[in-house]
Amino acid sequence: MHLDRDDERILAGEQGETKQKMLELLVALGKVFGAERLVPIASAQVSGASYKTIGEYGLQWLNSLDAKAVVPAVLNPIGMPRTRWQEMGVDEDFAAKQQAVVAAYERLGIALECTCTPYYLRTTNFGEHLAWSESSAVCYANSVIGARTNREGGPGALAAALMGKTPCYGLHLDENRKPQVIVRVQADTRDWSIAHYGALGYHTGKLVGNRIPIFSGLEAADPDRLKGLGAAMAATGAVALYHVEGVTPEASKGQFDLSGLEVITVEAEEVTRLFKEIPVEAVAVGCPHCSPKELEEIARLMKGRVVSKPFYIFASQGVIDKNQRTVDQIETCGARVFADTCMVVSPVMEQYESIMVNSGKALAYVPNMCAAVSRIGTIEDCVRVGTE
Ligand code: F3S
Repeated sequence: MHLDRDDERILAGEQGETKQKMLELLVALGKVFGAERLVPIASAQVSGASYKTIGEYGLQWLNSLDAKAVVPAVLNPIGMPRTRWQEMGVDEDFAAKQQAVVAAYERLGIALECTCTPYYLRTTNFGEHLAWSESSAVCYANSVIGARTNREGGPGALAAALMGKTPCYGLHLDENRKPQVIVRVQADTRDWSIAHYGALGYHTGKLVGNRIPIFSGLEAADPDRLKGLGAAMAATGAVALYHVEGVTPEASKGQFDLSGLEVITVEAEEVTRLFKEIPVEAVAVGCPHCSPKELEEIARLMKGRVVSKPFYIFASQGVIDKNQRTVDQIETCGARVFADTCMVVSPVMEQYESIMVNSGKALAYVPNMCAAVSRIGTIEDCVRVGTE
């Protein structure tokens, strides 16, 4: 693997032990995956930020590090809102530990934005190399934006943030970004909601596994719908990049040779049968974290209503701050819009036996990570059930 002189000096320990260890980690990763060089990155998104997942050992490791991020870097969602944790019902012991984790990352120069939608906070451009961790963010960056990132583990993304580079392999290379399977959606998708795209992703992820699908037959596929589709495929499969004919930037007509690829057909009924009407104790929306447009839609639907069960909405602090009036309108109805966390990583959500979501990813993760049962519905369904 080619390293420049500065890298050699860092590996010799001339810039301290943390940088030496971090570069050793990147070089080891690169060797495992056959990278020929490191590539500079535009930004990093670091997972392993919830105390629920990293625990005491992870916190001690973070506290042992001594370096600063050299590129813009944010955190993945953590176990609680940083400022409104008491309102969410987080216990004090957990809050203290979580705050210690956040403080450790702040000392390392990671911005205290804890979100799976970093692309709403800072412009991310086509062709940029990134080191992002969270699977839905990775899928969105690669597919919808056309940026380039592998799905980094927490330590790999942190090392990349501190060094400003990452090993150049996998989805950083043109040859690894081509479709590997065709998915033909045989349905009238013109009226499909974000939840339908999430359910499609939930179903398709299981069929394609870790291959790169190219979709045909998707109408009205806007960024929020694509966000839901990719998040769910990353959850039930291991999709980190997909293409949609005529929609996503690398799928412009004729660019890919699709001859010889397996074709999977998805019928409408395979998607709509996931929408089961079961009773729920709580509603949780914002997986991945809400866009400004989604918040506006929720506010519009909630107008004049009052929640009848706990109703959680998740978004990044940056999006909340820029849309405070909309958030205030939503909260007037009794729902709560929390930053920094989500229905899967917060231990608070474990108190519910059943949760309604509008996300294919949450449909897959909620039963494993918190409540026993999850139900998917459109955002209209969620508002209706949460206020009836
Ligand atoms: Fe984001 Fe949490 Fe969903 S990290 S993608 S809101 S499970």
